Amino acid sequence: KEVKLWGGRFEENVTEIVEKFTESISFDKALYKHDIMGSRAHASMLAHQGLISVEDRDSILQGLDEIEGRIEAGKFVWRSDREDVHMNIEAALTDLIGEPAKKLHTARSRNDQVSTDFRLWCRDAVDEILKKIKRLQVALVTLALKNEGLIVPGYTHLQRAQPVLLEHLLLAYVEQLDRDAGRLTDCRARLNYCPLGACALAGTGLPIDRFMTSDALGFSSPLRNSIDAVSDRDFVLEFLSANTIAAIHLSRLGEEWVLWASEEFGFLTPNDSVSTGSSIMPQKKNPDPMELVRGKSGRVVGDLVTLLVLCKGLPQAYNRDLQEDKEPVFDSVKTIIGMLEVCSEFAQNVIFNKEKIENSLPAGHLDATTVADYLVKKGVPFRTGHDIVGRSVALCVSKGCQLQDLTLDELRGISPVFSEDVYDYLGVENSVKKFCSYGSTGSECVSSQLDFWTTQLEIN
Ligand code: ARG
Repeated sequence: KEVKLWGGRFEENVTEIVEKFTESISFDKALYKHDIMGSRAHASMLAHQGLISVEDRDSILQGLDEIEGRIEAGKFVWRSDREDVHMNIEAALTDLIGEPAKKLHTARSRNDQVSTDFRLWCRDAVDEILKKIKRLQVALVTLALKNEGLIVPGYTHLQRAQPVLLEHLLLAYVEQLDRDAGRLTDCRARLNYCPLGACALAGTGLPIDRFMTSDALGFSSPLRNSIDAVSDRDFVLEFLSANTIAAIHLSRLGEEWVLWASEEFGFLTPNDSVSTGSSIMPQKKNPDPMELVRGKSGRVVGDLVTLLVLCKGLPQAYNRDLQEDKEPVFDSVKTIIGMLEVCSEFAQNVIFNKEKIENSLPAGHLDATTVADYLVKKGVPFRTGHDIVGRSVALCVSKGCQLQDLTLDELRGISPVFSEDVYDYLGVENSVKKFCSYGSTGSECVSSQLDFWTTQLEIN
């Protein structure tokens, strides 16, 4: 059995059960690229500071290239007796180049190393997620453009409320995704500080240059406090919080589209290419991808909660518990990327059923609030107008008709303020046309929102 890199003071090796329980190589090998990147920067800095020779640096750099190549070719053997990605690579480097490799860990601990690797990994993951968010925004705006002018019922309490343009509704998701992207961008800026050189927790007495490694790795600057640098995982908490909020937005989209795909709504039909069938009921066509978007949001929430609970009881500085931070982050990232991709795919493969939607619009008195606004324009206090329209709706309910079917006499029977021009306000088309406040569903407002997003997202 090989002696551990830290084996000097030990007389016995760990038992197999302990080795299996404590290893992290089975999952943290995903950090290999960032680990090697960090080692390259560290070795170059050590040589620059005269802590290792230029020859040693060159042989370390060559060795790291060789190891990276082997990993990428699938020829590298990951060993669980070498615990984690850091020791696997360092030990393999020693196997490969001998003595110079033993100098690489000068003024470095796995504690600052792992936090550096993980920040670099998260930075790349954020960039990847941002791309996928933008792609979904593009898909939603494209879908909006494809359905220009289509009026749908807007809901509150899942009860019919007011008529809105479908474009307006789809753009609501685009706005939400924009804030998700903003949160990720904020988090990226806040995580982009370099722990390297904090060593175990106290820093070092050796003349290193932390600014040099920080620059080489594209960080904004070294973290100010070495204890903080190795101890905190707030950057992953923030990252997973941002992911979680995005996942909740996607889950709501999933729920809405699942509902709309039902026979009861029938507003939307997914193409076969994004639907699945039933093993027993031959007629079935289910919107599974969007159900799973809703379902998988639960994992993303769970990953965040795992990390919150992981961190809550930890005294300063590094604790081995922190090794448990990787898998929830990997899972959260993989899941959110999958969710974003499948939402884009679904958005590109869904048909809104114009006829079915239009046939459904007469129900629910969607124009009632517009009529209350009409009365305000006639000088009626809003609360009084609300009451007048409420009584008009009650009359419709008793007669089984819509507001626009009431005669002027019937309306004037409720309030003498009504005159012929009220019919310009009745019906969903008229109603939608009246909206003109900033951000509202009127077609001019919506088309300026659409213009904004087509420019912003560089569509066409
Ligand atoms: N595998 C460890 C982790 O992921 C690396 C740091 C271990 N440090 C230590 N002193 N045991 O956190």
